[in-house]
Amino acid sequence: MRTVYVNGEYMPETQATVSIFDRGFLMADGVYEVTSVLGGKLIDFDGHAARLERSMTELDMPALPITMAELLEVHRELVRRNDLSDGMIYLQVTRGAPGDRDFVFPDPEETAPTMVLFTQSKPGLADSATGRNGIKVISIDDLRWGRRDIKTVQLLYPSMGKMMALAAGADDAWMIEDGHVTEGTSNNAYIVKDGRIITRQLSTDILHGITRAAVLRFAREAQMEVEERAFTIDEAKQADEAFITSASAFVTPVIDLDGTPIGTGQPGPVAPRLREIYLEEVRKAAI
Ligand code: PDD
Repeated sequence: MRTVYVNGEYMPETQATVSIFDRGFLMADGVYEVTSVLGGKLIDFDGHAARLERSMTELDMPALPITMAELLEVHRELVRRNDLSDGMIYLQVTRGAPGDRDFVFPDPEETAPTMVLFTQSKPGLADSATGRNGIKVISIDDLRWGRRDIKTVQLLYPSMGKMMALAAGADDAWMIEDGHVTEGTSNNAYIVKDGRIITRQLSTDILHGITRAAVLRFAREAQMEVEERAFTIDEAKQADEAFITSASAFVTPVIDLDGTPIGTGQPGPVAPRLREIYLEEVRKAAI
């Protein structure tokens, strides 16, 4: 049984509870982060902590009751208590649980945020079959709200997108807005054409992926060309390669889009190389 963290306390998962009035539950008024763990160490903790603070600020949520140094300790303690080698730490912070349902934000003096963290064990996370062999994606309309740069727990549409992908015999979905790909249901999207890596520029349209930032930095350091701009589905179908990035998928090749094989229909060479560089570098920097 897992040991989880709820508002300052560690407890068995079966004893962890949150109020029915919690705004995360009633209003999706909460934000989250997923930090991966490889070999018992945290990947890019600082990036996730910084984005968490930004998400909270953008939503006028009161500051966390603990410091970022303490938050790091909570992550590490959960790794220790759960003997986690490979997997993820999920963190969620909501605006808390006022005594009733109300659209108006509660007074932060009276209602403290709710903070929960738990581990997800994924042995061999960095050596998954999808990481090696790639995934198939379908395209769907992007029907999410306009502030996708904030990592909120409003994941119903991404969840529906994933179900549409599974129903179509694919693994995931890329979302389209005004003819251009925004991102995957839970990852950033890329294509490769003539050696150039193309991915949508940062804005409120997409989540500013922590893995994205690292991968683009490593790509530039390896003298690869990077172009940050929106691309269409047709462009993606004619690309040499495609791939996604996220904290849990790292760099994963995309080999098929809406039933059209991308490039040779096999991963490589750019995405597997980036995956290798990414994993090597983040393992070195893991804390
Ligand atoms: N998802 N875009 C969206 C919509 C995401 O939900 C995520 C992450 C990303 C990639 O961000 P990062 O590289 O910081 O993980 C992009 C997480 C993994 C999830 O929901 O499980």
